[in-house]
Amino acid sequence: MTTIVDGTVPHSVLAPLVRGLCINAVNMPRTVIPGTAVSGGTAIPETALIIDISSAFSKNSDGGVLFNEESAAKVLNEAYAAWEFEMVPSGAEAVRSTGSVKKQPSCIALNGENGLLALYWIDRDLDSALKRRAENDSSFIEETVPPAQSTDITPRGLSSKGRGDVVKNRIAVVTGGAQGFGEQIVLGLASSGALVFIADLNIKGAKKLADRINAAGGRTAAIAVSLDVTSEESAEALFKTIAETAGGLDLCVSNAGILNAGSVMEQELKSFKFTTEVNYVGYFIMAKYSGRLLKLQSLTSPAWKTDIIQINSKSGLEGSNKNGAYAGSKFGGIGLTASFALELVEYNVKVNSICPGNFFDGPLWSDPEKGLFVQYLNAGKVAGARTIADVKAYYEGRVPMKRGCEGPDVMKAIYYLVEQDYETGQALPVTGGQVMLH
Ligand SMILES: NC(=O)c1ccc[n+]([C@@H]2O[C@H](COP(=O)([O-])OP(=O)(O)OC[C@H]3O[C@@H](n4cnc5c(N)ncnc54)[C@H](O)[C@@H]3O)[C@@H](O)[C@H]2O)c1
Repeated sequence: MTTIVDGTVPHSVLAPLVRGLCINAVNMPRTVIPGTAVSGGTAIPETALIIDISSAFSKNSDGGVLFNEESAAKVLNEAYAAWEFEMVPSGAEAVRSTGSVKKQPSCIALNGENGLLALYWIDRDLDSALKRRAENDSSFIEETVPPAQSTDITPRGLSSKGRGDVVKNRIAVVTGGAQGFGEQIVLGLASSGALVFIADLNIKGAKKLADRINAAGGRTAAIAVSLDVTSEESAEALFKTIAETAGGLDLCVSNAGILNAGSVMEQELKSFKFTTEVNYVGYFIMAKYSGRLLKLQSLTSPAWKTDIIQINSKSGLEGSNKNGAYAGSKFGGIGLTASFALELVEYNVKVNSICPGNFFDGPLWSDPEKGLFVQYLNAGKVAGARTIADVKAYYEGRVPMKRGCEGPDVMKAIYYLVEQDYETGQALPVTGGQVMLH
């Protein structure tokens, strides 16, 4: 239930309900963008699906207007089913089972008591939806829906498509996406056809990366948004932006993290708390606000599975000498993952952690000035090491597979978790055998 004082429901509430509705009909991701402002006297295209949601509004004892999201979701689903039935009188299920081409409205108008509340344009991806809006093109989206019962000898679900296809046209956010593992994940998702919000404190770096990706791909595949994962206001604003820009979300990668090493006997409390704040509290904040958006969207798409994935660490699975603040925050993160998974399963949100080994080629280790290799060399941490290469060789030698963890290793774990719809609450190691389950 949302309380609305002035009678208008924000796009950040309505758009996810519409997105869920459209996903539910075709079992594929959709992008939903708002039409022109209602006050501008928006004309509703003739082929738009118009749904009256006035029954979702009520008044409380003080005369304030309330909007009930659950009853709006019910009205939306019923109206869509009626529209489908009208389009295909033999029944929408028949279309599903024969695997024929299915029509979907590309424009949905929501009406309240006093007329138009909001108008949405729908398509497979952001650029197509923007083009439709610009051209006022409300022709139906035609989708070939695979048959529910395949007669093929390969049972449905056992054959694997291209691995990256699992995120094609999905909407994702990656925190700390401007560099390091986050950058690798952004590049992986964008090159697999997802729309990725790069959310980072370093907005300049995030913008630079988004520009590079969009120029190389010739489409809008990445959007930079400023975020501080330790701030609730910042997180709330991020998910509002995502809902208003693309209609909703399929995947939240909580990756932003910091490492402040130090002896338990010497580390400053401030430094310990800061690590906990970013790595542990920051993950809670991201799960809180992404969870709210995913829950809202699921009201109209109860069968659609979505994901929250935390980038944890091998230090979340075993102790890390003189690095307790980091390891503690990561161990705690796995407790959060398991707990959030139990709660959010009701909304078909899977919650999992990935625990990578050391990313030696990333800035954390390889930055020529501040990287861990140069720090360890200068501190004499590796006996006999005279160059950065010596320090690197020492750490690589500790991994059974003799190399550090890289972007593609983490991406395979992400694709697995998104594709796997029968697992939640897990911590998945990607360590080249350095940490084994015990
Ligand atoms: N690098 C490794 O060897 C390694 C190994 C295992 C796990 N990890 C984990 O992977 C994740 C990324 O690590 P990395 O090494 O790529 O880090 P990195 O330092 O290279 O990049 C971190 C990014 O997060 C951003 N960031 C920092 N604080 C933020 C905040 N409060 N709000 C929003 N953004 C913020 C930074 O601006 C930066 O872009 C972390 O969670 C880390 O614990 C890293």
